[in-house]
Amino acid sequence: MRNQRSLWRLAQPVLRAALITISVASVWAQPPGRTPQKPKGPWMQKALSPDQRADLLVSAMTLDEKISLLHGGGWQAVFGGPDTPPTRSLGGAGFIPGIARLGIPDLQMADAAVGVTRSAKFGRYSTPLPSGVSEASSWDLKVAREYGALIGRELRDQGYNMSLGGGVNLTREPRNGRSFEYKGEDPILAGRLVGAEMKALQEQGIIGHTKHYALNDQENGRSYVNVKAGKRAMRETDLLAFEIGIKESGLGVVMCSYNLLNGDYACENGYLLNDVLKTQWGFQGFVVSDWGATHSTVRAALAGLDMEMPGDNFFGAALKKAVETGAVPVTRINDMVHRVLRTEFAAGLFDNPPSRKVPNIFTGLEVAQRVAEQGSVLLKNAGGQLPLAASGIRSIAVIGSHADAGVPSGGGSAQVDPPGGNAVPPLHPPQPPWYEQVIWHPSSPLKAIRTKAPGAKVEYNPGTDPAAAAALAAASDVAIVFVNQPTSEGADVASLSLPNDQDALVRAVASANPHTVVVLETGGAVTMPWIDQVSAVLAAWFPGIRGGEAIASILFGDVNPSAKLPLTFPRSEADLPHPELAVQPPPASDADSVPPFPGAPYKENKRQFDLEFNEGLKVGYKWYDAEGKTPLFPFGFGLSYTTYAYSDLKVTPGPAPAVAFTLKNTGTRPGAEVAQVYVTLPAAAGEPFKRLVSWDKVRLAPGEAKTVTLALDPHYLSIFDPDKDAWSLLPGEYKVHVGGSSRDLPLSGTFGIGGSR
Ligand code: NOJ
Repeated sequence: MRNQRSLWRLAQPVLRAALITISVASVWAQPPGRTPQKPKGPWMQKALSPDQRADLLVSAMTLDEKISLLHGGGWQAVFGGPDTPPTRSLGGAGFIPGIARLGIPDLQMADAAVGVTRSAKFGRYSTPLPSGVSEASSWDLKVAREYGALIGRELRDQGYNMSLGGGVNLTREPRNGRSFEYKGEDPILAGRLVGAEMKALQEQGIIGHTKHYALNDQENGRSYVNVKAGKRAMRETDLLAFEIGIKESGLGVVMCSYNLLNGDYACENGYLLNDVLKTQWGFQGFVVSDWGATHSTVRAALAGLDMEMPGDNFFGAALKKAVETGAVPVTRINDMVHRVLRTEFAAGLFDNPPSRKVPNIFTGLEVAQRVAEQGSVLLKNAGGQLPLAASGIRSIAVIGSHADAGVPSGGGSAQVDPPGGNAVPPLHPPQPPWYEQVIWHPSSPLKAIRTKAPGAKVEYNPGTDPAAAAALAAASDVAIVFVNQPTSEGADVASLSLPNDQDALVRAVASANPHTVVVLETGGAVTMPWIDQVSAVLAAWFPGIRGGEAIASILFGDVNPSAKLPLTFPRSEADLPHPELAVQPPPASDADSVPPFPGAPYKENKRQFDLEFNEGLKVGYKWYDAEGKTPLFPFGFGLSYTTYAYSDLKVTPGPAPAVAFTLKNTGTRPGAEVAQVYVTLPAAAGEPFKRLVSWDKVRLAPGEAKTVTLALDPHYLSIFDPDKDAWSLLPGEYKVHVGGSSRDLPLSGTFGIGGSR
């Protein structure tokens, strides 16, 4: 017996080692997406705060383990390849293996700006939502929450635990190829929307994210443009959107952008990362570089970058060496790891990891349709052309933009796999870059229109021959022309004109039929030289997987449009702050060495050149107001099938200023009006143009009136004082303007503020 016991004692360490080997081996042999098992450790006590838990865990880690959490496995791990070793990656854009010994879960990241991307790898479906600009056009925080919650749920169902979305770069250059992903040109509107979206996403137990920090407001030359912007201008424009979004959601990750800002790459910009984000805003999460946007080790680590993606050029062996030599202090590396882990604890990654299941596609379809219905903006409706009366119309011509097959989507890392494949296969086999291929989601407007008007003859013409399209239009009661402008990450559009002679198509159809309705499928603003010839225009943006159905619901009045523009539609490029595209795409032949345009100053690596944001504070509508330019359609504009009246403005003065007014539905249909409040600051602000400070989307039955009361947040009334490096609420008289768009503000009043904040 004693012998047996001592044998057992002797065997124990061997058995334990074998058991550990087996369990470690089985962890590493887990199929993709399976998180390593969770051993016990003091950091697993849920009663401790995320910071306490992260501290306990950091103190149990070796330097190699710490470094392993701060970088990805390279582009190969993202895109795969014949020599790629198998990993537990789910195939999303980013993957960082966890540490089984400590129960640290794998970090599975997926691009998720308008839905979960690259899900095809494991055969999972995700909902292609309408684009971000559509969400923004709803001006509705409830819609933003639904959008975020759906993306969070679908990430979770597919095993991801971190989103790469929440883009909030302002639309200061409307030709930006990524405008479709973002939330328009106003920092308060965009910031509040991304805040609501990310809060809801994080409630699903997923790490929320925002990008591209900061001032990456065009795609051409994004990795070598040195944006020059003054402190006040950036704090009151793009940075304000980030500030609001981050503070309102408590999101966990900020992605620094490709560009330089005032001479430093964004991912090694101490002002952006350490001073503003981490110190002034108190951001507790971590900073990840955009893919390939890290340019140094020590400089970046000391400036505030916490994680390099997708590879380890700077934050792998080089970072380890920098820690060993003391170039990067141990306290800083611990801070980097602490930030990653406290974010994972706070989001619930340790306690409530995602488990994979087939997403509920039905909920997804409903949400997608609702967002498109709430986010499509009715821009013109002469003579009450819309809604179409399903019973009175005998014939409808549906023309152009592959409306028989589907709706277009925005390209790049935001591209969600189309269910069943591209509804309009490319004429030629796809050529790189893959992300510039135009993908059509299988939601046919033609079919949806036929469903709405079963008694009418609804015929389709592809619009490639304007004369043939006009002939069909002439023979029909109503012509609905679909036009598009595909846009994508990686390049700006050369102009705001519709490509492929679609202006000529619209003109031909409009001259053949006085009842011509245009449906725009674009990523942002376009010019409309034919605007006076058509009777109605609906901006549907890239409307997502139920785009066809949503468009038909609006055209036939099942849904009363209530969306408003989150960005200005200019009359022409001549009216833009930079009429010429400030950054031309480099010639494909020599993208690395040729400057973007002749004479552009070179810096360091020859390609860098300065792009002065000399419009300063005048971004979007503020530019048009300040410069006295009349837009084609102003910020905040959007029609409804009913009408509204504003009256009885009452203004409560500071220190807690507020407005109250009466809003009445004066028409015959139920509707929702986005009532907007703008303020002009005291003259001392040096900001003579108004800014949006509050709004509410108010639902009203026909004839119904409601009193709308809105508090005005002092932060939104303040200016950023670069000398004090702080926000300042100036004393003086503030003018209030209330109405249904930035150019239709029937009510006005004033209030005073007595001192500074
Ligand atoms: C580059 C894009 O700019 C960014 O938005 C995206 O999240 C990463 N690639 C990963 O795909």
